Amino acid sequence: MIIVQITDLHIYAPDKDKNYPIDTAANLIKCIERINNLVPRPDLVLATGDLVQSGNKDEYDRLKSILDLLEIPYFLIPGNHDDRNYLKAVFDDHKYLQNNEEFCHYVIEDYPLRLIGLDSIEPGKVGGKMCQKRYAWLSDRLSEAPDRPTLLFLHHPPFNTGFPEREYEFAEVEKFQKIVVQNHQIVKIVSGHFHRGIETKIGNSSVSVCPSTAYTYSLSFLSHKVYRTEEPPGYQLHLWNSKNQTIISNPLFF
Ligand SMILES: [Fe+2]
Ligand SMILES: [Fe+2]
Repeated sequence: MIIVQITDLHIYAPDKDKNYPIDTAANLIKCIERINNLVPRPDLVLATGDLVQSGNKDEYDRLKSILDLLEIPYFLIPGNHDDRNYLKAVFDDHKYLQNNEEFCHYVIEDYPLRLIGLDSIEPGKVGGKMCQKRYAWLSDRLSEAPDRPTLLFLHHPPFNTGFPEREYEFAEVEKFQKIVVQNHQIVKIVSGHFHRGIETKIGNSSVSVCPSTAYTYSLSFLSHKVYRTEEPPGYQLHLWNSKNQTIISNPLFF
């Protein structure tokens, strides 16, 4: 099973591109061309938030017209730049989003790896938020299938790098990590938000941050500040081998 992950697309409305130094839509189109030409063909695409820049409807209309160029199924979760209501309204053909839940979270059961999408946003906040309700939902979903290999995908990485205003509060990270340690079926957690490839481990699970298709940020714990770099945009492949229960992740740049 091959999963493609794209993240932090930051799509603008067409008339706003001229004010912005990076053509994020052109980058996404280029990325989709690469994905459509991958051999063997991947099974699905996960887009892990910051899908648009300002959360406006015209941005989502543009985003949909681009993402529909994908020749394989794709699944969306929001990031801190997104608006849940417009996301659900514009992608009304994405049934997994139409669940009348307060949060954009869901489970995809159709693949060898069970996929759980989490909503880590709080409107108006740059950093992540996982409240009691969301932890309860996640715990319930995990207890439904304790022996089924599972991948979690969400926007905000569930670990701290020393940038409090861009991350979860420490207590929330502690709680998240406790759930992961207690649930051995979680083989992988994939996220975005930091705009660069990062790898770590929580309990039994490997954790990665995917490069952005839009632009790359500096490594915050080296520079002690975050700035945009000249490094190329990218995406990530995750290869799940059911036979030996391993997952291999590989970032690709374009
Ligand atoms: Fe972002
Ligand atoms: Fe973000």
